[in-house]
Amino acid sequence: MTTNEEMIGRADVNDLEAILSITAHDVDEMVHAVKDNADALFTWNYEKGERPALNKLYEKAKGAQWNGETDLPWHLDVDIEKVAANAPRDPEQDPVFVAATAHGGLLATWGDKEWDQFVIESQNWTMSQFMHGEQGALVCTAKIVETVPWIDAKYYAATQVMDEARHVEVFAKYLDTKMNGHYPLNAHLGMLLDDIIQDHRWDMTYLGMQIMVEGLALAAFGFMHMLTEEPLLKQLLRYVMSDEARHVAFGVLSLKEYYGELSDAEMLERQQFAFEAAVRMRDRFLQQEVWERMGVDVRAMIKLQLEHGGDKNEDPFQQLLFSKIVPNCKKLGLLDRNDHWLRKKFGEMGVIQFEDWTDTGEDYDTLSLESLAAEAEAHAADGGAVA
Ligand SMILES: [Fe+2]
Ligand SMILES: [Fe+2]
Repeated sequence: MTTNEEMIGRADVNDLEAILSITAHDVDEMVHAVKDNADALFTWNYEKGERPALNKLYEKAKGAQWNGETDLPWHLDVDIEKVAANAPRDPEQDPVFVAATAHGGLLATWGDKEWDQFVIESQNWTMSQFMHGEQGALVCTAKIVETVPWIDAKYYAATQVMDEARHVEVFAKYLDTKMNGHYPLNAHLGMLLDDIIQDHRWDMTYLGMQIMVEGLALAAFGFMHMLTEEPLLKQLLRYVMSDEARHVAFGVLSLKEYYGELSDAEMLERQQFAFEAAVRMRDRFLQQEVWERMGVDVRAMIKLQLEHGGDKNEDPFQQLLFSKIVPNCKKLGLLDRNDHWLRKKFGEMGVIQFEDWTDTGEDYDTLSLESLAAEAEAHAADGGAVA
């Protein structure tokens, strides 16, 4: 059986030195090259609708395009303090902050000014990583157009490429015109994106991107949308979510067929890949770049986060970020093959409790812009104000 060391480069998931040793690529580089190791496949089977669920998704996507320049209220001034789209972290409730603010602690000297600055930096960092992740989705999905053997999937993936271009565009515009610029790519997220794009197997692109990265993004955008009171960001997130729900469904619907035919050994490789992606995504929550910018000793702060986070991830908001990933992995048969391998790993990570939540294979319609418009109409007909 493959060890943690072989999968994630360290035996102990919480190994401080190993986590810190992963540093950003050259921050001044403008272009980053990765080998994608794959064959581009042509198919001569043009039978449209051979995979009806993918065909339906493609037809939906054609009617759901929006324009990032003209459909969002960019004229609004953004009050940066209203953005507040990160999960609230009450310093008095959060064990990491309790330890950090204790007498002689790392953040003991912080006053209101530092805390306000931290909230803004942390917000900017989070959105910057989503912007980089959107570019990852753009590149990965363009690869899927080339590598997937089915015509219905190539058609659908082409619409997702357009969606992702729009997502990169709107996040970049928001950060650069409303939030004083963006943070560089986090090293852990960068490593995950490189791993996904380097794998030669077409289904691994889907598993890494559509199931893991986009599954996490869909949950995160949901919270950010719920928490923020900044109207431009709220609408931007709602529009992006309407697309993301389709993207995750694309992953579930495509892989469901393929994973049904794989051997135990092949499935184990997929289970390990999903676990590896989950660990990388957790590592990036440590947001070391924010501590650096705030002038806090990064090593000491990460150590504190790992000690108080422990093996079990006890932050309920961080756990909830896995609320789409776990039921989707279950639907794909990834949790229980090979003696419940991934179930055990997700148990150790404190996220298995979401296994019976709704998977994303069918419920993308509830997030569509069509249903948003219908809700608004019903609300207006009731005499309520349109939100
Ligand atoms: Fe996206
Ligand atoms: Fe997406």
